[in-house]
Amino acid sequence: MAAAAPPTTPAVPLLDLKAQYATIKDAIDAAVRDVVENQTFILGPAVERLEKALAELSHTRYAIACASGTDALLLALRAVDVGYGDEVITTPFTFFATAGTVHNVGARPVFVDIDPRTYNIVPEAAAAAVTSKTKAVIPVDLFGQIAAIEDVARLMPNVPVIEDAAQTIGAARKIDGETRMAGEVATIGTFSFYPSKNLGAYGDGGMIVTQNERLALTLRKLRTHGGLRTYHHDIVGFNSRLDTMQAAVLQAKLPFLEGWSAKRRANAEYYTAALGDVAEVGTPYVEPANTCIFNQYTLRCERRDELQAYLKEQGIGTAIYYPLPLHLQPCFSYLGYKEGSCPESEKAAKEVLSIPVFPELTRSQQDRVLGAIRAFYGRRSS
Ligand SMILES: Cc1ncc(COP(=O)(O)O)c(C=O)c1O
Repeated sequence: MAAAAPPTTPAVPLLDLKAQYATIKDAIDAAVRDVVENQTFILGPAVERLEKALAELSHTRYAIACASGTDALLLALRAVDVGYGDEVITTPFTFFATAGTVHNVGARPVFVDIDPRTYNIVPEAAAAAVTSKTKAVIPVDLFGQIAAIEDVARLMPNVPVIEDAAQTIGAARKIDGETRMAGEVATIGTFSFYPSKNLGAYGDGGMIVTQNERLALTLRKLRTHGGLRTYHHDIVGFNSRLDTMQAAVLQAKLPFLEGWSAKRRANAEYYTAALGDVAEVGTPYVEPANTCIFNQYTLRCERRDELQAYLKEQGIGTAIYYPLPLHLQPCFSYLGYKEGSCPESEKAAKEVLSIPVFPELTRSQQDRVLGAIRAFYGRRSS
């Protein structure tokens, strides 16, 4: 029997967290050592410092750290009283948690289609889906650009807006001439610190932001079993605390975030300029109002699966976010959606391909990606 081929590391991985660690090793190592020396592992001052920093970054009055981006959505839904028999409007072209959490609080996800250019919610479609049972709407800021939150809020004035900003920490949007940050204008904004996110922890983590004092208090209680005094429970909550270690790692990373976002944008611009003459590939569209942080750089491609296989052969990491929209997932068949219910989401699922855009990516790595894409479509390297 032939020996199995050794696992190969792609020449250009989709994400290179080791490369990032190499640039911030001293800061991270010191932060981790500090936590170990203090032997405080759950919540505590480091978590409070991170909450303060995230509130500042997102221009919000309150920030509540929790155990993941999924829990951030779960707690947000509970805080605005979503429960059995209620409906929550969202899009199906997103990570599973956006709708999974709606189901898990006992409510029904109602899916409306996306804008094919931005992949984000169409506010008019969301407003048209409102019924007497609608208890919340979750616009998702997909791939790094903020959804039209202000239009959602304007068209659905009595519906709490939970902004799923898991992919947009630090992204901005001009609204009525003012720069607004991800999470700022929604009733509640939710972030994820999953390691592959633009601000990634060394494990799971999440954050919830709001301008509303009453909601902030409820969210704080929900995070620790429904009470702020040990063994006293005003409501039934969860165990969704953030580890001190994660908070320390995130705080050490935070000063670099703006530079990383700028680098992601520069990488995106470079790709977009170089692919302008490849008609088979559509490059990302960013609304003029948005400052995108390119958590992903996502192409729309003819013969997508063949291109992905070819890039893999060339040692280039890619990913398909997302191959099957949520309205067609087996677990949601009880909702009664069929193929054709959300045509733009279904089309996107067949065409999208995300390519490496992480901040540490070098120009020569980008040229290699570009050369491979151009070769696949029969173009010479530019
Ligand atoms: C859009 C979106 N929502 C929610 C989540 C859930 O976050 P987490 O993985 O931290 O639970 C993610 C990330 O995975 C996401 O991309």
